[in-house]
Amino acid sequence: MRTILIGPPGAGKGTQAQFIVNTHGIPHISSGDMLREAVRNGTELGKKADAAMKRGDLVPDDVVIGMVIERIGRPDCARGFLLDGFPRTRPQAEALDVALAAAGVALDAVVLFEVPDSLIVERVTGRRSDPETGAIYHLKFNPPPTDALGRLVHRSDDFEAAVTARLDKYHRETAPIVPFYEAKGLLKRVDGVGSPDEVTARLLAVLGAPRSAG
Ligand code: AP5
Repeated sequence: MRTILIGPPGAGKGTQAQFIVNTHGIPHISSGDMLREAVRNGTELGKKADAAMKRGDLVPDDVVIGMVIERIGRPDCARGFLLDGFPRTRPQAEALDVALAAAGVALDAVVLFEVPDSLIVERVTGRRSDPETGAIYHLKFNPPPTDALGRLVHRSDDFEAAVTARLDKYHRETAPIVPFYEAKGLLKRVDGVGSPDEVTARLLAVLGAPRSAG
């Protein structure tokens, strides 16, 4: 299964991806996680991305496209992948099309999580992540276990000013790729409002049960 998750910051892409990669046995490729790792490791790519990420801006297309296309070309993606956070501009979507066509494979679905802006700031500013397990928590909606409290991370772009900038970028740069995938007949809309379990049920309804990917 080759699937893309699209949605505003805090829509629940990462939360739902954790479930899907377990049930469908495919790698979760998050461009945000890859960029954060590059920043932590101080690589050239990380240095190019760091300031833009902290401001809530997008990292330039030429930096992100090469990084993700190289990643989905690795052997563990031969049977499928779940892309989270990429593509998020029209040039990224077109570059992905070219790379998939060159590899002789096609996308199965593009899932759009729909969550109103009014819910986003509270979701994002309350997020905490566990660097040991990769689990995503929320101080109010999905409270972390007490034994994890001391090691939880609050992302440097999860403050109100950066979230507002990210939402603006989403509407201006990413929302326009929705009609691109709609025209290809790939778009599946999922209501992202409700408990994470309710959203998972809706997601499984549009993706179908897990099957062996080819
Ligand atoms: P990225 O890491 O991709 O961030 P994002 O798209 O803004 O998405 P988030 O990770 O903030 O949210 P999410 O939808 O995964 O929500 P989550 O499940 O965690 O990108 C970060 C930055 O990297 C960008 O700003 C940009 O600078 C750069 N970048 C990345 N990719 C790029 C690209 N392709 N091109 C250019 N630049 C790029 O949930 C959020 C919170 O809500 C959590 O606390 C969770 O517990 C809670 N929650 C989840 N579901 C629910 C629910 N149903 N009800 C209540 N709470 C919920």
